[in-house]
Amino acid sequence: MSGSSPTLFNNHKDRNKFGLIAAIFLILFMTGCYFDEGEEIILPYTVSYSLDIQPIFSTNCTSCHPVLVAAPDLTEGISYEAITNGVYIVPNDLEASLLYQRLQGNPSVMPPSGSLPSEDIELVKSWIEQGAPDN
Ligand code: HEC
Repeated sequence: MSGSSPTLFNNHKDRNKFGLIAAIFLILFMTGCYFDEGEEIILPYTVSYSLDIQPIFSTNCTSCHPVLVAAPDLTEGISYEAITNGVYIVPNDLEASLLYQRLQGNPSVMPPSGSLPSEDIELVKSWIEQGAPDN
């Protein structure tokens, strides 16, 4: 029976080792998940109208709005007023925001040449969901 005590001790050590290895694998596994391609990482990010949204309009929209179509005028310095004083952008309401609906192709897509990259549409979406501030 003198051999049973060391054996028990060894088992105990092995259990600890197993726990440590399991913990390392768990960390590796979780870290691996974080950097998987295609995995969506949602960061708490406050969208800025002047830094995030206006550049989208200036790049993709102002060649026609207001040059070809008066409303909405998406020119920097004018656009915020133009889109938030009616139905183009309704804070916290994607359904009611006609401009957002047009980005989604509803009833037809803006810009007419083809929809914006999904990251741009996501920015506009987040901005509306954050209350569409003039920030
Ligand atoms: C090539 C010219 C062109 C570009 C670029 C363009 N639009 Fe338009 N847009 C139009 C025309 C023409 C209309 C009117 C016909 C229609 O409603 O489809 C219009 C209509 C709209 C309307 C509806 C206006 C209303 O009062 O019903 C919205 C909102 C709009 N565009 C937003 C955008 C946004 C946002 C962009 C950039 C992401 C953009 N447009 C880019 C030509 C353009």
